[in-house]
Amino acid sequence: MLDLPSIRRQFPILSQKIDGKPLIYLDSAATTQKPQAVLDRMQKFYGEENANVHRGMHVLAERATVAYEHARVTVQNFLNAQRPEEIIFTKSCTESINLVARSWGRAHLREGDAVVLTVLEHHSNVVPWLQLKEDLGIDIQWIDIDDHGHLKTEMLDAFLKKGNVKLVAVTAQSNVLGVRPPLPDIITKAHAHGALVLVDAAQSVAHHQTDVQELDCDFLAFSGHKLYGPGGIGVLYGKKEHLESMPPFLGGGMMIQEVHQDRFTPADIPQKFEAGTPAIAEAVGLAAAIEWIGQYSWEEIEDHEQSLIAAAVETLHVIPKITILGPGNGGARHGSASLTTGALPLQSGCLSFVTEGVHPHDLTEILGRQGICLRAGHHCTQPLHRRLGITASTRLSVGIYNTEEEITPVRTAVIQAVKKLSS
Ligand SMILES: Cc1ncc(COP(=O)(O)O)c(C=O)c1O
Repeated sequence: MLDLPSIRRQFPILSQKIDGKPLIYLDSAATTQKPQAVLDRMQKFYGEENANVHRGMHVLAERATVAYEHARVTVQNFLNAQRPEEIIFTKSCTESINLVARSWGRAHLREGDAVVLTVLEHHSNVVPWLQLKEDLGIDIQWIDIDDHGHLKTEMLDAFLKKGNVKLVAVTAQSNVLGVRPPLPDIITKAHAHGALVLVDAAQSVAHHQTDVQELDCDFLAFSGHKLYGPGGIGVLYGKKEHLESMPPFLGGGMMIQEVHQDRFTPADIPQKFEAGTPAIAEAVGLAAAIEWIGQYSWEEIEDHEQSLIAAAVETLHVIPKITILGPGNGGARHGSASLTTGALPLQSGCLSFVTEGVHPHDLTEILGRQGICLRAGHHCTQPLHRRLGITASTRLSVGIYNTEEEITPVRTAVIQAVKKLSS
């Protein structure tokens, strides 16, 4: 069992009060809070090690380079990637996906080729492909969901049979419904038809173990700030052979072997994709976050967070006028046990809901004044919201530091807010 009081004490931000009431942070899907270990590590970097990486011979350049490359190996081990050079540091999950679209996409896709997306995707995994559609004339095929928010994977079979699918780009966990697509099945099928798979792991990395070799995905992207690490650092994992087949994404210092007046030769991976001065302290902070979470077992984290989501479903579904979106609906009808089938939880990390006659922004504003942090809007998933027939929803999302005691006050606060807003 996780020692929650000890975990919470490591997050200084959580101990504050808002208007005399304890802060209740239920917005970790947007960004997670940072443990003291990460804050300390970044301060140590700036206090003792700061220099630019790779191009200096002095002692600080050496320390900074060692710390930065240690961060790469830490991410490699975290993802169980085969080689450190398969880890590219970017600024965010968004930039990682754009890198694949702009570099791999432009090198390997032609008019008439298809990229398969799902209606669950975040705009970060939609817009870069729409841009390629505009530029290259590729097709985008969409996998729909059923009434519980699960992918209609039979649609993938039909798309793959057409023979023009070159890439399936799919989320590992929806940032709205919390559903987790069956990645092993999707990846096996895509590969059987010669298509690559990009996994958007932005929402899953903090909640479940990620093993790129076991998954056998071709690319995987995530952001450090959703994994208890700092903002401004993201990761792209790519299989070596794919990364080597791709042209540089950005041009500048560090990504070259030679530059002449009329040509350049790119560096090998990973430097080929890390033009300019990288986010060094942020990479070091991300490594500290990975080392920090590594002291807890994934089973403990999953059990804990699953009970938080089950408690949230139980808390919210009894409130009149509230409809929980996706699998939480099933939870509402049949109890929390329906949130899990076998080893794969049906809903993880977050749940979203709509409240009849009440705009999510008004609701979250009232809750916010009481120190209860939920998020409202389309959560950068307009295709999903359109599919659900709504324009906005309210999202409650959890992290390792949340407790069931924090979920209980949400009910009273929501009931009071709904009453106020509907009167
Ligand atoms: C599923 C998913 N993918 C991608 C992103 C983009 O992450 P970032 O804004 O850190 O690049 C998010 C952010 O919320 C997300 O939830």
